[in-house]
Amino acid sequence: MNSQTFYIKTYGCQMNERDSEIMAGQLRQMGYQPVNDEKSAELIIVNTCAVRGSAEEHALGYIGQLKQLKDQNPSMRLAVAGCMSQEPGTIAWLKKHAAHVDLVFGTHNLHELPKLLDEVEQSDEMVIDVWKSAGEVVEHLPSQRADGVQAFVNIIYGCDKFCTYCIVPFTRGKERSREIPAIVNEVKALAQEGYQDITVLGQNVNSYGHDLNPAVDLADLLVELEKIDGVRWLRYTTSHPRDFSQKLIDTIAQSQKITHHVHLPVQSGSNPILKRMNRKYTREQYLDLIERVKRAIPDAVLTTDIIVGFPGETEEDFEATMDLVRQVRYDAAFTFLYSPREGTPAARWEGRDPVPNPVKKERLNRLMSLQYQISLEANQQLIGRTELVLIEGLSKKNPNVWAGRTHTNKVVLIDRDPAVDLIDRFVPVRITQAKTFYLTGEVVGAPVSDPSPRRRVELPLV
Ligand code: SAH
Ligand code: SF4
Ligand code: F3S
Repeated sequence: MNSQTFYIKTYGCQMNERDSEIMAGQLRQMGYQPVNDEKSAELIIVNTCAVRGSAEEHALGYIGQLKQLKDQNPSMRLAVAGCMSQEPGTIAWLKKHAAHVDLVFGTHNLHELPKLLDEVEQSDEMVIDVWKSAGEVVEHLPSQRADGVQAFVNIIYGCDKFCTYCIVPFTRGKERSREIPAIVNEVKALAQEGYQDITVLGQNVNSYGHDLNPAVDLADLLVELEKIDGVRWLRYTTSHPRDFSQKLIDTIAQSQKITHHVHLPVQSGSNPILKRMNRKYTREQYLDLIERVKRAIPDAVLTTDIIVGFPGETEEDFEATMDLVRQVRYDAAFTFLYSPREGTPAARWEGRDPVPNPVKKERLNRLMSLQYQISLEANQQLIGRTELVLIEGLSKKNPNVWAGRTHTNKVVLIDRDPAVDLIDRFVPVRITQAKTFYLTGEVVGAPVSDPSPRRRVELPLV
């Protein structure tokens, strides 16, 4: 045992957040203590994301800054993990520009962290251990979950979709589902600990179970999880429109716990672009899916991801995306400038047929203004309604305000009553005002849940 301290910096998606919890769990088991500040840490792990160039630049910039800390404290250990480690270019770059890094490991061997840290102590050189492909699913790893009542649970690892712009299938490997009983047991244990808002995770949760014997699907799993006492909200992320089945829509519509937030990344509204992205659906099929969701779940909150400036995107293609956004009227959209990822097919096309940067940016701005208008109008529809809100903490900008979310993931700000502590409680709130990115409301009743056994220490997201 040792009594060293650690700090993990996490970039990227919820799968990376979850991986960081597992790394933290292993370190705690080894006797390490977490600290909130890298300056006092004896071990720093940077859990990287490779999905866009900007994510990579942030992580590399951060790793660069840590050189100063390492110079001041040579016994400090620095490890680089996550999706960037899986890219061959990163290792070459680190060797050349970041010799102060002690350890590089990837997404497939994070369960070996204790052994890897041992190797670092035995070696004078950068220890590099990145597996090209994934082994079997490893169960029963320790983990250090976030405080509060929200927990993430992996259900499927990897992605087999190979969208032509995307690095994830290369960094996360082929799809591997966990068995239903393993997931049910994990969620039961979480519910007993007081976690009530459970999000099941995968790069494509709609493929869940196809690789199991016998094959099962996401709807089957959610039905089992719904039965667990203590689970109040059940969420899932991320969905691929192609496998979003009618059975799943009906399961959500009938469920008391599966939230009515339906995130269906469309990426583009143009058929030729969708084809070249290898999304395997057409605009018409996507719109039909949305219609079926709206019919079965009339209060569904729809959100999406859109990429602007995919190689060869014409003004006409882009207008088709704008038109689709007008038709669907999403509550919110995550919009991204296309970023070429080395090794993907689209990166090769980018060389031949790029959309010039100013055009990309102008299109992104047009799309964002349209979406902001629609988001505001959608939020205004909620004024006067009473919603159950999970209070997540205090507003970053104003400690006299609580910040929470509805089950549909809308942020709600509430004037705080200093006489009561409602953090981590589910509370009925009447919506009084609507803005583009958040709602405001007032508490209109007692919390429907007991206080959390693990009152969160971190401040919230807003
Ligand atoms: N598995 C999820 C997405 C994971 S990545 C899904 O298929 O929906 C999250 C989002 O990042 C994607 O939906 C896409 O909109 C965006 N993205 C992925 N690769 C990108 C790239 N090369 N450039 C710009 N955006 C990208
Ligand atoms: Fe990437 Fe497509 Fe897989 Fe999503 S479904 S992770 S966008 S390859
Ligand atoms: Fe990024 Fe890897 Fe997630 S590339 S988005 S951290 S799967």
